[in-house]
Amino acid sequence: MFANKKIVLGICGGIAAYKAADIASWLKKNGADVHCVMTANAAKFISPLVLQALTANPVAVDEFVTGPGWGIVHIALADKADALVIVPATANVIGKIAAGIADDALTSAVLAATCPLFMAPAMNTNMYRNPAVQHNLATLREHGWHILPPASGHLACGAVGEGKLPDVTVIEEALQKLLLPRQDLAGKKVLVTAGPTSEPIDPVRYITNRSSGKMGYAVAAVARERGAEVVLVSGAHLATPAGVRLIKSGSAVEMREAVISEYDTCDIVVMAAAVADYRVAAPADRKIKKTDDNDELTLHLVKNPDILRELGEKKTHQLLVGFAAETNDLDAYATAKLQKKNADMLVGNDVSRAGAGFDVDTNIITIFQPGGIKTEYPLCSKQQAAEYILDAVVEALRGR
Ligand code: CTP
Repeated sequence: MFANKKIVLGICGGIAAYKAADIASWLKKNGADVHCVMTANAAKFISPLVLQALTANPVAVDEFVTGPGWGIVHIALADKADALVIVPATANVIGKIAAGIADDALTSAVLAATCPLFMAPAMNTNMYRNPAVQHNLATLREHGWHILPPASGHLACGAVGEGKLPDVTVIEEALQKLLLPRQDLAGKKVLVTAGPTSEPIDPVRYITNRSSGKMGYAVAAVARERGAEVVLVSGAHLATPAGVRLIKSGSAVEMREAVISEYDTCDIVVMAAAVADYRVAAPADRKIKKTDDNDELTLHLVKNPDILRELGEKKTHQLLVGFAAETNDLDAYATAKLQKKNADMLVGNDVSRAGAGFDVDTNIITIFQPGGIKTEYPLCSKQQAAEYILDAVVEALRGR
C-alpha cells in the first residue's frame, strides 16, 4: 500500500510511546520505508532498539550522531520524508513546534520538513484542555498540520477524560487518508467563499460579523487534498491552504464580483461565507467625527446582493452548496433557503449549540437536500465536517 513512501515517525516521551511500535510495524508491513526519530524522553519509555528492529532502519535520538549514512540527521530525515508523523505528540513538543523551537533531532526535523505533517496528541485531560496547549494546537492547524484529536477514556494518570491516544486502528485509518488521499474531486473546479464580509462605514470603520472563516477554509483545503482545483474567495485572516488560489475580498459587492467572474468555469460552489445582508448606502470618504450636539448617529443601510440566490438563478451545470447558521428553527430556515436560493445542498448548523458556534474548531452540521432529504452528523472537527460535505457533493454528482 505504501511502497515507495518514506515516513519519518516521531515519537515523544509519553506513556503512549509504546503504541508507536504498532504504527511503525504497520507502516513497514504495508511497504513504507520508516525512519524513527525519538525525543530523549521517548527513549526512556521505549527502547530505540525496538523501533530499529521493527523498521530495519537506525533510529535517531541524538541529533549529533555521526557515522556512515547519517549526514546531518535532521536534514536527512526531513529531506527524505513523504510524510512526518508524530505519535504520540506531547504538550511539550507541541509547544516547541508551535513556537518554532528546534532543540533536538525531532523538532529540528519538523522545522526542516516540507512534506505533509501529522500528529496524534496524547496527554492528561487538564493538560490537553489547557488554553496554552489548545492555542498551540490551533497554531499548528493553521500551519497545515493534520491533527488527530485524542480519544476519551481511562488515562494512565488515573483520570478519565480527553487526552487518550486513539486506538491504533483509528490512527492507521487517518494515516491512510493522509498518505493515500482520495482523488474523487480530480478534474473539478471548486469555488469556496469563506469568512465574514466587511462593509465600510468610513475609511476607518466597517460592519462585519463573527464568522472566522475556519469552516470555508477547511472545505477549500479538503477539496484540494481530494484533487480539485480550488479558488477561495475570502476576507478572513487565516493561512491560505496549500495549493489553493485565494482571491481576497472585503465587502459583499466585492465578493459577488469575484464569485461571478469565476462562476462559469466552476463545477461546485460552496458558499460558506457569512455575507452581510446590508451595507452602508454611502460610506463617508472621511472619518466620521462625533459631535457634541447629537447623541445619535443614523446609518442608512441598503440591501446587498444575495450572491447565492443569483448563482441559483444563473445555474447551468454547477452544484451549489449554501450554508445556514441559525440560532433557532434550523430545519425550517435551512429548507426555505435551499428552495429560495435554488441550491442543491444547504449545510445547516445551529450556532447556539456548544461546539458549533463561531471561531471554534468543531462543528455540528446537518445537510439538507431537495426532496426533504436531511442528514445529521455528529460533533466533529471542521476538517471532518468538510469531508462530510464533500462526500455528499461527490455522491450528488454521481447521481446526476
Ligand atoms: N448568502 C449570499 N449572499 C447574501 C447573504 C447570504 O450568498 N447576501 C449566502 C450565504 O453565503 C449562505 C446562504 O446564502 O450560503 C445563507 O446565508 P444566510 O445569511 O444564512 O441567509 P440569508 O439569506 O442572508 O437570510 P438571514 O440572514 O435572514 O437568515
